[in-house]
Amino acid sequence: MILPIVAYGDPVLRKKAENITKDYPNLDTLIENMKETMYGAYGIGLAAPQIGLPIRLFIVDTAPFAEDEGFTEEEREIFENFQRTFINAEILDEEGDEWAFNEGCLSIPDVREDVFRQPKITIKYQDENFKTHTEVFDGIIARIIQHEYDHIEGVLFTDKLSSLKKRLIKGKLANISKGKIRVDYKMRFPAMKKKR
Ligand code: NI
Repeated sequence: MILPIVAYGDPVLRKKAENITKDYPNLDTLIENMKETMYGAYGIGLAAPQIGLPIRLFIVDTAPFAEDEGFTEEEREIFENFQRTFINAEILDEEGDEWAFNEGCLSIPDVREDVFRQPKITIKYQDENFKTHTEVFDGIIARIIQHEYDHIEGVLFTDKLSSLKKRLIKGKLANISKGKIRVDYKMRFPAMKKKR
């Protein structure tokens, strides 16, 4: 089932999400629905707060990047096969000199900006079977994980921009939160304030 994606301005995107246990109700269905939602919107990552749930769960599938001419063949092969579910993730370490990459977000349609992040991360997480892993990722894959991880910390990529850039996109963000945007996937916009 495709779920509506929560738009910028909804308070759920600002919550620090909570850990979950194996007994979380209908977790398998939830993960399946999140995948369907992500693929339906041509996303490469989706975090539970983006479908309205403040829990520490996100998914990544880089397969759409496998088609992208901008990457080497070796990179494309890695992207084609990288699919993960991250539960209760905790970034243990980030290393290296920050580099810029153009990021976007399904909750913030039509806004794309260069974001600086460190290139290498060590992350501890549980997979969909609640098996614990500690892994090191770098490059684009680390980048996508960092973006999704920010979602479960209540952080959005637009928070990381310079104050000038933030000023430049302020109007666009306000329009998104009011639902004044055309988007080709299902979204849920924060309730508009009613006039008294
Ligand atoms: Ni995002």
